[in-house]
Order: sequence, then structure tokens, then C-alpha cells
Amino acid sequence: MALKELSLQLEDRVRERTAELEREIAERSKTEQAVAASEQRFRDLFQNVADPVYIADDDGRIIAANDQAVSELGFSRAELLQRSIEDLDAVHDAPEKVAEQFRGFSNAASATFETAHRRKDGSTFPVEVKVRLIDFDGRPAFIGVARNISERRKAENERLRLEQQLLHAQKLESLGVLAGGIAHDFNNILTSIIGNTELALLRLPAQSPALENLQRVEASAVRAADLARQMLAYSGKGKFLIESIDVNRMLQEMGHMLEVAISKRVVLNYQLGDELPAVEVDATQIRQIVMNLVINASEAIGDSDGTITVATSCADCREEYLNDAWLVDPIPAGSYVVIEVTDDGCGMDKATLSRIFDPFFTTKFTGRGLGMAAVLGIIRSHKGAIKVYSEPGRGTTFKVLLPAAAGCAGVSAPEAEAQNWRGEGVVLLVDDEEEIRSTAGELLRELGYEVITARDGCEAVEAYRMHGDVAFVLLDLTMPRMDGEQCFRELRRIDPSAQVIMSSGFSEHEVAKKFAGQGLAGLIQKPYKLSSLRSVIMASRKAATA
Ligand SMILES: Nc1ncnc2c1ncn2[C@@H]1O[C@H](COP(=O)(O)OP(=O)(O)OP(=O)(O)O)[C@@H](O)[C@H]1O
Ligand SMILES: [Mg+2]
Repeated sequence: MALKELSLQLEDRVRERTAELEREIAERSKTEQAVAASEQRFRDLFQNVADPVYIADDDGRIIAANDQAVSELGFSRAELLQRSIEDLDAVHDAPEKVAEQFRGFSNAASATFETAHRRKDGSTFPVEVKVRLIDFDGRPAFIGVARNISERRKAENERLRLEQQLLHAQKLESLGVLAGGIAHDFNNILTSIIGNTELALLRLPAQSPALENLQRVEASAVRAADLARQMLAYSGKGKFLIESIDVNRMLQEMGHMLEVAISKRVVLNYQLGDELPAVEVDATQIRQIVMNLVINASEAIGDSDGTITVATSCADCREEYLNDAWLVDPIPAGSYVVIEVTDDGCGMDKATLSRIFDPFFTTKFTGRGLGMAAVLGIIRSHKGAIKVYSEPGRGTTFKVLLPAAAGCAGVSAPEAEAQNWRGEGVVLLVDDEEEIRSTAGELLRELGYEVITARDGCEAVEAYRMHGDVAFVLLDLTMPRMDGEQCFRELRRIDPSAQVIMSSGFSEHEVAKKFAGQGLAGLIQKPYKLSSLRSVIMASRKAATA
């Protein structure tokens, strides 16, 4: 009995134990399946991450890499598995540095840093690496994701470039307003100084001891006018009379002027391209660019022998090429006329090069630092660009790009120059500045005219109506109450054949452009001399009677 009971008890226990074991086996196989599934998931993830992923042991040796890593670096997987993280790194020279960096990580933390990786072919690219310490088959290892950030870097650089461009534009804008304002007032004052000096020179007897002093006053005033012209150009507001010109012809005409402006030991060469398209520009300002560049080139050569080459060509410029130039506002791709001035002078280092367009930046004892600032202002208002290539001791090349016009270059009228020419009739002189009214009035009387004056547009219209027989109106552009533009329209309304010569010490290109084709008899820029006033009037009178 006791034996039988014992045996039954044993059987029960065996059954229970068997069931227990079966449960355990089922559970273990479930866990195993789960582990296998998780491993598969890890493998899928490892392979499908869009970025290269590496696993390295704590010495930095690569023990696994995904497909992305293989294709990014150009190594086969086998080759990659024979390398260490240090071999990929293109920044750290000492091999131990990378592994050292990794060893510094605490267990749970991950670290992100930027470096560069080197491909099998030697090329490198910037990467952002995210590394974490993991347990790999019971051993410590690092898993790293290395994202190629070439595109991001490119975008950042582009953003930086645009930011700098904006900053530069803002600086130009604010300084330009200041410079333009000063230049405008100076031009009015200088018109009076130059005009009165000329009149005094005419009226004094030839043996007067004051003649020489007055000549010096005149020379100084002309230098001051030059300064005002540079400032006005920098402000981008000096563009005055837009005409279609042939750059080659302009350079040929400037030949003598350039020769006398440069050092005697410098040879001036020309390489003028064939069949250049015309450019729609203010010729005076383009001459100013060439003059400033050539004088700088000569000054860079100094007292030694040297060569300056002035070359012209036409180029189809793509956007990238233009973006790489010094420009303030973006300009479109297209056809540009290029004026190139090269010297074999002292050249410039990077620090100088980065500041040449800053107003008042100069490295010369007597320099004013306005030449290149003016060049940039003119180029800006003509929607062009400028490129500079320079190396210390090697010389410098400036390339000025001006948008090519559609048509062919027109033939500019020959300078009318007739010392003794005189006009007759009544001139209505309109200017808000008392000084200008009296000086210009005297200049006009000197040319044989009778002069009536008005202080603004309203008075001018009134005077024109009252008088009835005005040969022409010399009209200032910027005035209170009614400005020159409105006044011109009003005069034309009263008398469609009214002859108007517009004058200004400061002119927006848009305004000058607005008058194009509207029958303006002439344009004259302050400060003007008797001779230039005479030739503008002569040309307009000839056209009126033709
Ligand atoms: N061709 C060149 N070779 C070497 N350096 C140059 C050249 N052109 C310009 N520079 C440098 O750029 C600076 C600025 O030139 P910029 O013409 O604006 O002023 P400047 O010649 O010094 O004075 P100025 O107002 O009388 O022209 C110069 O002082 C010089 O250092
Ligand atoms: Mg200069």
C-alpha cells in the first residue's frame, strides 16, 4: 500500500515536472525567436539608415559597417573591416587622437562632433559624427553615424556670402546717402567758386598780379570738384547722361589723358577686342572708372619700369561667375562688356584686398581712398560687377563688367568747341540757390544772353508765361515747391516747343532716364565751367534751329 502510494506520488511529480519543462522550453523558444527577430530588426535598421554607420572596437578598429558606409567611402566591405576609424578621419593627423576622443565618452552618453572623412580615392568631405558607447558581444564598442554635410556647408557658406553682401549694401546705402548729400551741396558751392573765378580771370587785365592767385583758386576748385565727383559716384547718384557708347572708341579718345596721368616709366598697352557690343552708360563715369584704375595701376608700379595693359572683350557670364565678383546687388547672367586693367606693380595681400572698396581706405601717403569706392558706386549704378585678381609682388588685374546693350554703339557727337561763340535772346534761369542764380546768370550774360531768374518751378512757370519770348530755360532739377521735372512738364504743356536745359548737382539715374526721348534740349552737371555751359548751349541751339 505504502509502496503503491509512493509510486503514484512519483508519477504525479514526473507529470508535473514534464509539464513545467515543456512550459520552460516553449518560453525559451519564444525568447529565442524574439531575440532573432530583434537582431533582424537591428540588421535591417543598420542597413537601411540613410547615413554611413560604423561599429568600432575600443581601439578604433572597424568591426561592422553598413552598405551606405561602403558606397560613400569607395572601399569594399572587406577593405573597410581592415581599417580603423583613424584611417577614415581626414582631420586628425595623430592616429591615437580619434580613439582617445572616443574613450573619453561615458557609458550612456552620446557625443556629436564635426570632422572630415577621406574616401579611397583621397577626396575628402565634411561629416557630422554621432557616437555612442555600446556593448557588442560582451565587449565595449562604439557605434557611429557619420552624416555627409557637404550640402549643408555649401548652404551655410552661401548664406554667409549673402549676409556679407547685405551688410555691404547697407553700409554703401548709409554712407552713400551722406556722401551724395555732401557732394550735392559742394557742387552748388563749387559752381559759384569756379564760375566767379572764371569771370574774374576774364575781367582782369592781363598784367594783373592777382591772375596767378585766381588761377590757383581755379585749380583747387577743380580738385575739389574731382573729390565731389568721386563721392557722388560712390553714392551711386552721379549717373547723369545715359548714352549708348563704344568702349573701344572711348578708350582711344582717352589715350592722351591716360598717358599724362601715369608715370613716365610705365608703358601703356591696349588689347581692344573686336566688334564689342555697345553699353548704355554715363560715359563720364566710365571714363572715371578707367582713370581711377589706371592711376592706381601706375601708383602700384611706383618709380620702377612697368606695364599697364588695358584690354576689352565681350563675355557671356553665368550666374556663378557673377556671384563670385564684387557686387552689391545680384545681376542677371548674360552678355557683358569687359574692361580689364592689368599692372605688374606691387600687388595686394588678402587684408588689403578685402578693404579696397571701403571709402577712405588707402595705403598711400597722399591717397584719399576714394578711387575704388567711386568705381564700385559707378559699377553698382550701372548694374555691373567687378573682379579683382592680385598677389603681392605679382601685380593686379581688375575686370569691370558692364551689361551689353542690344544694339550697336552709336557715334557720339564731336565736342563742340568754339571759344568765341555767343548767343542772343532771353534765358530763364531757375535755381533755388541764390549763389547759383547770380553766378550762372553772369556766365550766361558773358555768353551774350539777357537773363531773368526764378527761385522754383512755380515762379518759373509764371515768369515763362509773363515773358512770352524765352530762348531757353536753364532749369535746376532739385528745388522746393515744384521741382525741375514737374516744371519741365508744365512748361511743355504751356508751350510744346519750350527749350529746356536741365542742370543738377546730383541726379538719380531714373530721373535722367525719364527725360530720355522727351525732348529735353540738354543736360548739364554741376559744377560747370563756362566752356561746358557754352558747348551744351551751342549744341542745343544748333539742334533747335536745325
Ligand atoms: N592696382 C593696384 N595695385 C595694388 N594696390 C592697389 C591697386 N589698386 C588699388 N590698390 C589698393 O587699394 C587702395 C585703395 O585704392 P583707392 O583708389 O580707393 O585709393 P587710393 O588710390 O589710395 O587714393 P585715391 O582716392 O587718391 O584714389 C590703395 O591705397 C591700394 O592699397
Ligand atoms: Mg586711387
